[in-house]
Amino acid sequence: MVIATKPEQKVKIGATKLLIDNQWVESISGKRFETINPATGEVICDVAEADAADVDRAVAAARKAFARGSEWREMSATRRGELLYKLADLIEANKEELARLETLDNGKPIQESLNSDLPLVIGCYRYYAGWADKIQGKTIPIQGNYFCYTRHEPVGVVGQIIPWNFPLLMQAWKLAPALAAGNTVVLKTAEQTPLSALRVGELILEAGFPPGVVNILSGFGPTAGAAIARHMDIDKVAFTGSTEVGKLIMEAAAKSNLKRVTLELGGKSPNIIFADADIDQAVEGAHNALFFNQGQCCCAGSRVFVEADFYDEFVAKTVARAKKRIVGDPFDLNTGQGPQVSQEQFDRVMGYVELGMRDGANLLCGGKPVGDKGYFIQPTVFEVEDEMTIAREEIFGPVMSIMKFNNIDELIDRANDSIYGLAAAVWTKDINKAQTIANNVRAGTVWVNCYDVFDAAAPFGGFKQSGMGRELGEYGLQQYTEVKTITVKL
Ligand code: NAI
Ligand code: MG
Repeated sequence: MVIATKPEQKVKIGATKLLIDNQWVESISGKRFETINPATGEVICDVAEADAADVDRAVAAARKAFARGSEWREMSATRRGELLYKLADLIEANKEELARLETLDNGKPIQESLNSDLPLVIGCYRYYAGWADKIQGKTIPIQGNYFCYTRHEPVGVVGQIIPWNFPLLMQAWKLAPALAAGNTVVLKTAEQTPLSALRVGELILEAGFPPGVVNILSGFGPTAGAAIARHMDIDKVAFTGSTEVGKLIMEAAAKSNLKRVTLELGGKSPNIIFADADIDQAVEGAHNALFFNQGQCCCAGSRVFVEADFYDEFVAKTVARAKKRIVGDPFDLNTGQGPQVSQEQFDRVMGYVELGMRDGANLLCGGKPVGDKGYFIQPTVFEVEDEMTIAREEIFGPVMSIMKFNNIDELIDRANDSIYGLAAAVWTKDINKAQTIANNVRAGTVWVNCYDVFDAAAPFGGFKQSGMGRELGEYGLQQYTEVKTITVKL
């Protein structure tokens, strides 16, 4: 099927069934659900809807693929790496098409899908392809006449549940390390954005992965997602999404088979601007830190702390910058901000805007929907007090909260006064201030004079209720292995 968003913008829709055991199949129930174009509110197409019975079928396929003597288990680590390189090459060869599909289903501007998401996706598969034959244990000098060594083995069948804000990238962050380490996977996409992952499923078949190694299910959280979390034959679950659901996943894992759990959850990240920062760099940096991807980033710089001396100038320039942000058709190359992903997210963000006004936050710009169709919201900037709900809860939309600070000690306590600890940033020319913030802010990532710098080699994840474990880099790979100790009497 080809959807024309504009005469010159045709988007090819790939597979719409479930990928189980290298076959495209309908769900056992026969149910399908619709996926919506958030720029128009119109239906794009429908896709097969997995529930618990399909999860069982996919887990059985993944278990068989993981069994002793299977093609995947017998495969050399180097060959596993080659398959991942092949997949990266295929994604690169289909980059424009995948970017258009991502923009159609998610609403993110095409220039971001193409120039930000896709390069990171390809980079992630290549990075972990290189790791496949470099996963190695240690020899350990224990006491006595023994030879002791470790093996880093795959965990087994891995369930992966991903969100809708970066569908292709979250798929890459999950699949690449799991496959490099030799696991097999049942991946459930978010119900808002099933399409791009299915197209990658076609490329996975083309790359030549053996049957059952990668299974991809479209479906909803409380049905298919919950069935993964509580499944007795899944060895690990990796989840990215809300802190609320992260807690459900951990509970289900604990109550079923103690499967390993890694979680990448919400955030309310402090973005700290000192008066000695380069003003234009800081204004632009803070703008992108919050508004990138329609504000739908777990690490969005959503609490902007500005030093008192600098405050008025920073606020004036930040508001002027927000007003200049171009909101509209995500397929237009000039667009900086597309629609929120869904009606539900639109309502949620607008609910926070109303709550901010009711609580007495000072609305400096925005706060209204844009246009009469689709889920567009004006770039919005508030001056807030620390204890207001909009300064504490994750909004996940284009809503910036600015606060003033007077000295660094007071600031560090305020920055850390959050249930979250995913990311933080500091803007200053003073290396001592930068280092003091970097060492004392309780967050998994700290950016200095920059924001949202991602690389497959650099670990990412949260302190506190922002998650458990790390993704990316060598640390991320470790989360997909079990360590086995072998002791041989000599
Ligand atoms: P969500 O946490 O409900 O959804 C994320 C994924 O979890 C989806 O694949 C969904 O189907 C699945 N899921 C939902 N309920 C489940 C359950 N009971 N068992 C297993 N899987 C389940 O997030 P939602 O509802 O889309 O967004 C709500 C809020 O969550 C957002 O406003 C935002 O604050 C936060 N969020 C954070 C993300 C992040 O990157 N850390 C990504 C998406 C949402
Ligand atoms: Mg939800």
